[in-house]
Amino acid sequence: MREIEERAAQAYEQRFGEGPELVASAPGRVNLIGEYTDFNGGFVLPCAIERRVAAAVGSAPNGRGALFSADFDEELPLDGEREGSWADYPRGVAREFMKGGAETPPFRAAFAGNVPLGSGLSSSAAIETATALALDALFGLGTPRKDLALLCQRAENAFVGVPSGIMDQYASLLCGPGTALLIDCRTLEGEPVPLELEAAGLALLVCDTRVERGLADTGYEDRRKSCESAARRLGVEMLRDAREEDLDSLSGDELKRARHVVSENARVLEAIRALRGEDFASFGRLMYGSHLSLRDDFEVSTTELDAFVDAARESGSLGARLTGAGFGGCAVALVNASDTGALASSVRHVFEERGFEEPAFYEFRPATGAEVVG
Ligand code: GLA
Repeated sequence: MREIEERAAQAYEQRFGEGPELVASAPGRVNLIGEYTDFNGGFVLPCAIERRVAAAVGSAPNGRGALFSADFDEELPLDGEREGSWADYPRGVAREFMKGGAETPPFRAAFAGNVPLGSGLSSSAAIETATALALDALFGLGTPRKDLALLCQRAENAFVGVPSGIMDQYASLLCGPGTALLIDCRTLEGEPVPLELEAAGLALLVCDTRVERGLADTGYEDRRKSCESAARRLGVEMLRDAREEDLDSLSGDELKRARHVVSENARVLEAIRALRGEDFASFGRLMYGSHLSLRDDFEVSTTELDAFVDAARESGSLGARLTGAGFGGCAVALVNASDTGALASSVRHVFEERGFEEPAFYEFRPATGAEVVG
């Protein structure tokens, strides 16, 4: 077991006085390219990261379900309404199992995690998918992973109240080590794409700008609505089906949002070709292009995220872009492995000079997706 899984198991035992029946864990993700394309039926390319949420679960002998977070040192009842806390995620997932008609006796769960919270690395999806995988095993349901991803997305949409797409939950459940996952968000087909960065002397440096963002109170929903109205105006089911030459009939925000989605989908497909040919220089250029489009057309960047991307470009990184929903959170750069320290310190310096929060840095290798570990 990983340390984080041990921690969840120990928390369960300390809290409930006996060991859990099983432990599952699920990773956060970093999206390499393909932002705001998922709910438009388009393409995304995330990989799992070496930060996870673990869920230790067992049935509740007294019939009273309970949830315990080791990180918040807090116990909350399983039954409860949305309250804006960490418990909303497992509650939402449990409710979706019930709605689906599954036999779901009351259970107890203890959670421990090390995915940075609210910074765009999908801590929410990780707790949802860890819960879903653990419960699926506990109840002996054998639900296919894609269906678990959809169940978690429904929990997030219906219970947590964020109208997110499918990328994060799908990535957390289906990514594999050493690969990124090309997801066609319309057909829900996923295709692993080798990401041999180490062999190429490259690394992914993630910068957490420490500007916290909650998707529920950002412009996420507003962006989604603009995309849907642009699609309606163009007479297509989803912006995935729009072509660049169709966009002339749009104007204002609808034009900008749609232009981002159409160009971003094209960038993802080009990025896949580049990766397959181990052409990391082209891949990096596409990342920069993605950032500009997110900044100027989709308007979800911040001065901190832009400052990181500028610093990456100035220091000769192959590529950089904000990752996740933006409005704060994280950016990712593709850099020579020997340059990560220099980039981090130059960014620290810029942030200090400009009076920003002190950023945090992570180097990630594409990691293992969700698993039941014991
Ligand atoms: C969040 C959502 C995803 C996706 C991204 C933007 O991470 O959860 O579904 O829309 O933002 O690409």
